[in-house]
Amino acid sequence: MIVADHPDKKVVATMQLTFIPNLNRKGSKRMQIEAVRVDNNFRNQGIGAKMINFAFIKGREQNCKIAQLTTDNSRDDARRFYEKLGFKASHLGMKINLSHD
Ligand SMILES: CC(C)(COP(=O)(O)OP(=O)(O)OC[C@H]1O[C@@H](n2cnc3c(N)ncnc32)[C@H](O)[C@@H]1OP(=O)(O)O)[C@@H](O)C(=O)NCCC(=O)NCCS
Repeated sequence: MIVADHPDKKVVATMQLTFIPNLNRKGSKRMQIEAVRVDNNFRNQGIGAKMINFAFIKGREQNCKIAQLTTDNSRDDARRFYEKLGFKASHLGMKINLSHD
């Protein structure tokens, strides 16, 4: 879990990175990026882009060959944010709820 702090406010952004062993691509790891959130009052200042670029550094340190994430279909602005950073919507993500409630 990565948090970004700011002198005026303790935590202004979060991100969760998971390094996943994989059978594909000669057993190389891939990095899952989740829980990317920037505090409302701190958006559009480049903090999100900085966090994702930091994630790329961490992923390369872990020898991950791919970084992946999902973003809600309804979030056009988030999609634009990720595409500007180089992500491509190359796969269709699928989910199912496993909880009973
Ligand atoms: C998406 C998000 C992480 C971007 O963080 P950020 O620090 O504002 O991003 P940056 O300043 O580096 O980049 C700004 C870009 O992000 C986009 N963006 C996405 N949602 C935004 C929002 N609610 N407010 C401002 N910018 C937003 C802007 O469109 C902008 O791109 P543009 O210049 O083409 O308009 C942040 O807006 C956020 O936490 N959104 C809510 C949660 C979310 O959607 N998370 C990602 C999906 S899991």
